[in-house]
Amino acid sequence: MIKNLMKKLDDRTAKVGIIGLGYVGLPLAIEFAEQGFKVIGFDISEAKVRLINAGKSDIDDVPDSRVSALVKAGKLSATADPKLIKQIDTISICVPTPLSKTKDPDVSYILAAVKWVKDYLHKGMLIILESTTYPGTTEDLILPILHETGLKVGKDFFLAFSPERVDPGNLKFTTKNTPRVVGGITPSCTKAAKAFYENVVGKVQPMSSTKAAEMVKLLENTFRSVNIGLVNEMALMCDRLKLDVWEIIDAASSKPFGFMPFYPGPGLGGHCIPIDPHYLSWKLKSLNYYARFIELAGDINSHMPEYVIDRIRRILNDNDRAVKGTNILVLGVAYKKDIKDLRESPALDVIKLLQSEGAKVFYNDPFAPKIKWNNSYLHSTKLTPALMQKADMTVILTDHTAYDYQWVVDHSKLIFDTRNATKRVRTGRKKIHLL
Ligand SMILES: NC(=O)c1ccc[n+]([C@@H]2O[C@H](COP(=O)([O-])OP(=O)(O)OC[C@H]3O[C@@H](n4cnc5c(N)ncnc54)[C@H](O)[C@@H]3O)[C@@H](O)[C@H]2O)c1
Repeated sequence: MIKNLMKKLDDRTAKVGIIGLGYVGLPLAIEFAEQGFKVIGFDISEAKVRLINAGKSDIDDVPDSRVSALVKAGKLSATADPKLIKQIDTISICVPTPLSKTKDPDVSYILAAVKWVKDYLHKGMLIILESTTYPGTTEDLILPILHETGLKVGKDFFLAFSPERVDPGNLKFTTKNTPRVVGGITPSCTKAAKAFYENVVGKVQPMSSTKAAEMVKLLENTFRSVNIGLVNEMALMCDRLKLDVWEIIDAASSKPFGFMPFYPGPGLGGHCIPIDPHYLSWKLKSLNYYARFIELAGDINSHMPEYVIDRIRRILNDNDRAVKGTNILVLGVAYKKDIKDLRESPALDVIKLLQSEGAKVFYNDPFAPKIKWNNSYLHSTKLTPALMQKADMTVILTDHTAYDYQWVVDHSKLIFDTRNATKRVRTGRKKIHLL
């Protein structure tokens, strides 16, 4: 079985399937299709399927031109019909792994995707889970479902985990030039998964197990969450000590070894850093272990929007104003700069909190023309000198590169900058308050 699969991977006749065509799945589909593989993307969203088959993309890092060229060449197509899995040699599962309302892992998307695979599982197939999840998911949750077919892992089919490391908006490191780690259920599963990725990624590191590969991703994202939590706490401490946290980080960064700068902000966002570490702490709770760093960092990071409101209140107070009735212009609502992703964005919490205190909030974001808000929408307002003057305060929540920060400062009455986006602004600094 493995020989046949390896041959197909080597001569690029393997038919590649990707389940879930989002931030992770679509770039992966594109990479394989551009290497000459025939790729079929599977997605439950009919709208997404139509979009891709029309040669269009809704992912920031994937231009329409790449999708349309591959669709026209017959190398890429999308479908909501799982029956086509029958024709597929490899399938990568890239579906969401959110948290439930009680902050427990919601693996229902993985289970739904695995059910599709199980229904059409056939001999010689390689299945790789890419969704971030708790250690043990591939072996304890997925494998038993696939074994219900009577087919045997490592012999009839191959099962592995490989965490996606895509960083949306990062122009330097993409799916192609970011090394991969892979861990299979059996050595032949690891071998097949390694061969699969070597078609599109320069470096692939094999791991001892699926569980170890699952843990790698959680270490990476917990590392970020904990360090951001640490630097956010530094910001809270600097506030009390009347120090400028940005100056401190800048100076500490001059140390050429043993220090890596992280920056404070209004809170964490996106589908990874605020969520993934909780998959690990949830798993550890079942083993009677309390993951202290994760919980502490999560606590500090998730309270940053409230700290932002506290600072806004104090800054307005110093200017003889209250939050209630004040016009506040928010710049940037995406969770990080130069992308349109609003998932878990702390800006949404900040706007909600400001509104609940009676502020009149309007926003601008070149990447997010509208935001779903209760049963309606908030719309991005055009930045004009008149609009800036209408605002009693401008709050910078996302440091998009497109903004001319000197212009913003020149035209604002008062600024609260949570990202140090105005660091190069020379005149009008008295109006600026930094996080
Ligand atoms: N976004 C990131 O930066 C990033 C980075 C690394 C890892 N990840 C991980 O990758 C996984 C996917 O994240 P994403 O950001 O690409 O999600 P996404 O929401 O952008 O895309 C998921 C896609 O899966 C589809 N889908 C959902 N359930 C499905 C099902 N049962 N069958 C078929 N399609 C289904 C959705 O319609 C959507 O198009 C998550 O586990 C996430 O933690 C995300």
